[in-house]
Amino acid sequence: MASQPRRVLISGCSSGIGLELAVLLAQDPRQRYQVVATMRDLGKKESLEAAAGDTLGKTLSIAQLDVCSDESVANCLSRIEGQPVDVLGVMFNDVYAASKFALEGFFESLAIQLRQFNIFVSMVEPGPVATHFEGKLLAQVSMTEFPDTDPDTLGYFRDMYLPASRELFRSVGQSPRDVAQVIAKVIGSTRPPLRRQTNARYLALTVLKAVDPSGSLYVRTAHRLLFHWPHLLSLGLRCLACSCLPTRVRPE
Ligand SMILES: NC(=O)c1ccc[n+]([C@@H]2O[C@H](COP(=O)([O-])OP(=O)(O)OC[C@H]3O[C@@H](n4cnc5c(N)ncnc54)[C@H](OP(=O)(O)O)[C@@H]3O)[C@@H](O)[C@H]2O)c1
Repeated sequence: MASQPRRVLISGCSSGIGLELAVLLAQDPRQRYQVVATMRDLGKKESLEAAAGDTLGKTLSIAQLDVCSDESVANCLSRIEGQPVDVLGVMFNDVYAASKFALEGFFESLAIQLRQFNIFVSMVEPGPVATHFEGKLLAQVSMTEFPDTDPDTLGYFRDMYLPASRELFRSVGQSPRDVAQVIAKVIGSTRPPLRRQTNARYLALTVLKAVDPSGSLYVRTAHRLLFHWPHLLSLGLRCLACSCLPTRVRPE
């Protein structure tokens, strides 16, 4: 007898990775998933509905969920039958990076405890992904005045950091579909790894951290490329974008 479908709750399904993943799982040919695709503003559900097609109301349902509101989270969970629930979560990069590192530490520690209950934790770690995410961020930043920021810092930010960031997304950015496929693979595996990178072209940058665990090599190289050798950075990114290199980390 076929086993019961697994219920998968996904946040941020109005666009990007969340939307792609919800649709991919709902269209699973073996119908292994019942997807609860959530978003904080149900007024934005049109794109999801269009992409979901005839899976809507069958293997995919839509619900309201704002991950910053305890009330909204409790409300959403109370309407979902069955437990447990695995959750996939969401400006200048420092605060963003800090929030992602907090999740890393939290889940790395939790993964050990949860293994005792036969629960596997897996973090899917994309590099740049071409979604609304970058556009929204850059639009927000370009409209901001930064009146309290000194001219040097503002210059570095606007003239070096932002162009490099755009180039990074343009050259090695993946599609949300690619990322969704890796996530689906992780969800479907019985013993998923703790960490799963998705972008082979981005590995060249992350490998510096592995080669020198002190972090000095990564910080020195990233600093020089960004502030002293922007042309080399740009050239390197264009080489990485070359079509002879694989874009996706191969599924194990
Ligand atoms: N794009 C990348 O380069 C990249 C790389 C690595 C990791 N990620 C991570 O992947 C996740 C999805 O990002 P994306 O690239 O798919 O961006 P996206 O297209 O902008 O999608 C972000 C989604 O999160 C939703 N959201 C924002 N605040 C929320 C809240 N408080 N409660 C519930 N939903 C909320 C947005 O809803 P609204 O439409 O209502 O704003 C939107 O649906 C994020 O955690 C991001 O940090 C992205």
